[in-house]
Amino acid sequence: MDWYRPHVEAWSRHATPQTTLWFWNTEIGWANVHPLLASQDWEYRSCHIWDKGKGHVAGNANTKTLRKFPVVSEVCVQYVRKTRLPFKEEMIPIKQWLRAEWERSGLPLSLANQACGLRNAATRKYFTRCHLWYFPPSQHFEKLVAFVNKHGEKQGLPYFSLNGKQPLTGKEWERMRAKFHCHYGVTNVWLEPPVRGSERLKKRNKCIHLNQKPLRLLERIISASSDPGDTIWEPFGGLCSVALASYNLRRACFSAEILPEYYQYAKKRFEHQIFNNSRTQPAIAELAAS
Ligand SMILES: C[S@@+](CC[C@H](N)C(=O)[O-])C[C@H]1O[C@@H](n2cnc3c(N)ncnc32)[C@H](O)[C@@H]1O
Repeated sequence: MDWYRPHVEAWSRHATPQTTLWFWNTEIGWANVHPLLASQDWEYRSCHIWDKGKGHVAGNANTKTLRKFPVVSEVCVQYVRKTRLPFKEEMIPIKQWLRAEWERSGLPLSLANQACGLRNAATRKYFTRCHLWYFPPSQHFEKLVAFVNKHGEKQGLPYFSLNGKQPLTGKEWERMRAKFHCHYGVTNVWLEPPVRGSERLKKRNKCIHLNQKPLRLLERIISASSDPGDTIWEPFGGLCSVALASYNLRRACFSAEILPEYYQYAKKRFEHQIFNNSRTQPAIAELAAS
């Protein structure tokens, strides 16, 4: 956990409310780092199991000696930023902020449904203190803001404002949470073999990096949590598969890799992709072997 601390602190400093953090690891690696992520205001959203299939068992498990079932999975855990907003000299979670701003206006909470034009969702969902809270969509937020600024106590104006001058707009409000574009039919279990064939970078028939991740899965998480033109950060690059997936999806990406050898292979991989506009890597495999 100490090893990760300076990394997590830096990610946290540079993240925005729209940032998603995808943490790939073994189950035990994740269990160890989770408290650190939580302490830095990363909110757990979901754990995805990468099931590499039975084919991954071959040669990788002597179960009689190990005395456990063969492991064919990794986890990819989704975290989002816990948004905090200013309220009376304090930074409070967005869920509390929403309710505190309403209460500050002196209006009874029972008027929230009328404000949003809803039957009961506003009081049950947007102002609840429990885990069933959810983020009001921008069109409902705009209605709340207009209602409270019109009917709330005049001395507290403006309500739902960050600068004390004007309230947040629906567009600004939408930027207060992580992006998520849901892919139809995808669950939290990902059946995907380890990288093989022409996508796998090899040198004299041996894999260059044991941890090379499948572009298909990386493209899945990048497209789910960002838009074209957004910036992706890949702190532990390896063969920089995330950068390649980002390039394919028209995102900008910055990657770091500490070992010069991997960095060189990643660079060649990129040159090949860009100049040949191809997802396959035969030229790199040849380069690697030379
Ligand atoms: C799990 S691998 C990444 C594999 C990559 N996703 C791929 O598909 O090729 C992690 C990489 O992080 C690199 N690494 C470890 N510590 C690092 C550091 N402090 N800064 C940058 N890279 C680091 C390792 O050399 C290793 O190649």
